[in-house]
Amino acid sequence: MKDFFYGTNFKFTNANGESVTRVYLDSAASTLALKPAQAAVNEFLKYYSNTHSTVHLSAQISTEIVSWSSNVLKSFFGCNEDYSVVYLGGGATSPINRLARGLASLDMEKQKVLISMMEHHSNDLPHRVNSKEVLTIPVFDKTGEFVGVEIDTVREIFEKNNGQIKYVAITAASNVSGHLNEIYDIAEIAHEHGAYIIVDGAQVAAHMPIVMSQVNPKRSIDFFVFSGHKAYAPGSPGVLLGRNDLLRRMKPEFYGGGMVSTVSKSDYIVSEDDFDKEHAGTLNISGIFKLANVFKFLDKIGINNIYEKEIYLTNYMIKSLRSIPGVNIYADKDTSMRISAISFNLKNVPHQLLSLILNDYFGIAVRNECFCAHPYVRECLLDELWEIDNEDEVELYQGMVRASLGLYSTIEDIDALCEAIREIIDNRVYFTGKYKLMGSSFKHLNYDVELKNYFDPDAVFEKLSCIREVSIDA
Ligand code: ALA
Repeated sequence: MKDFFYGTNFKFTNANGESVTRVYLDSAASTLALKPAQAAVNEFLKYYSNTHSTVHLSAQISTEIVSWSSNVLKSFFGCNEDYSVVYLGGGATSPINRLARGLASLDMEKQKVLISMMEHHSNDLPHRVNSKEVLTIPVFDKTGEFVGVEIDTVREIFEKNNGQIKYVAITAASNVSGHLNEIYDIAEIAHEHGAYIIVDGAQVAAHMPIVMSQVNPKRSIDFFVFSGHKAYAPGSPGVLLGRNDLLRRMKPEFYGGGMVSTVSKSDYIVSEDDFDKEHAGTLNISGIFKLANVFKFLDKIGINNIYEKEIYLTNYMIKSLRSIPGVNIYADKDTSMRISAISFNLKNVPHQLLSLILNDYFGIAVRNECFCAHPYVRECLLDELWEIDNEDEVELYQGMVRASLGLYSTIEDIDALCEAIREIIDNRVYFTGKYKLMGSSFKHLNYDVELKNYFDPDAVFEKLSCIREVSIDA
């Protein structure tokens, strides 16, 4: 599977002067790019033009490509004809902002919004800014034990707020601890109480099956958003799959060309076409096509097979990390199903320093800090930070290291991570002694990478453009 992706064979020289093949364990931030999807885009570029032109042949092809792509996505996510696809921005953040603003002026008798404690900032701040009141589903019990999003708690909150909650916005899976939420059960409770549901699907869209239109309509999802760059398609837009009837009731998010039917000096009429109304300006047609190609590819492999493989690897990763003394996995609950974003810390090694050592000596790419989910990370770390004796050091420990997987990930990748951590534990003084703290950042004493040795944009331009040989013809 690795050969289907760019970057799986990327080699660099580590701090020991050895050549290492990079192990990519940061797919929860951005996945690597799928080669066949990029190849399809390159092929399409021969015919590319703007969909706002309508008559010439390539404009017709582009228009057809967008419609084909939307149908691929709708089919992959089990949408019936009641749903539309909207493309916005560069990730899930733009669609969530669109929904938070759009829903703010609907159903004005309801002024409350419900989110969970494990939300990424993108599924938290837009609701805080656009709603009168945001309620939060706790994920730790009163003793500080992680319990996750409990269905009974969700029901209690809805009952207590008797018809005042306009919508619940919840992640399908945490980008910090990988915990999966019962989105269909939550949808049912929300709908029984006259509320809508937004599901942040950024961490699941390319990893597990999602069916928007359920047999029991109460269990259907009203809005599902995800990022193309987390679905093997960097350069593709954020996606919103949403109920037509609700989108139709929302004011447009952006104004400009393409979303109006007529404009005079003093007036304008917004297009009655659902798709046009949502898309002011030129679409990211190539990105949309690339994304659709990814989902065709995932469909060929079978999303259930992908899910099974990733669950297997995730369990293997959790088990392997748990077996290392001194590794603390966060919100580690035995019984719950998790996707492959697993965060942890190593006792006495700050998260940034551990991530640097993993990169500089072992070629392992992980993410550290708070993953844009500060409230959840803070709660996960609460007890641990109290235990640090030296107050000056607390700041260095306010974060975690996260390893996350994609379709190209293997048992060997996970073994490499765990072996590296064991080696770091065995030689902690040696590795940590190679770095000095400058302000709040660690810096290696003598390993300084010249990035241009790996990727020099000027050199790439020179090599590929052959500009010296080009003359401008009239
Ligand atoms: N939201 C992305 C992450 O969790 C960037 O890493």
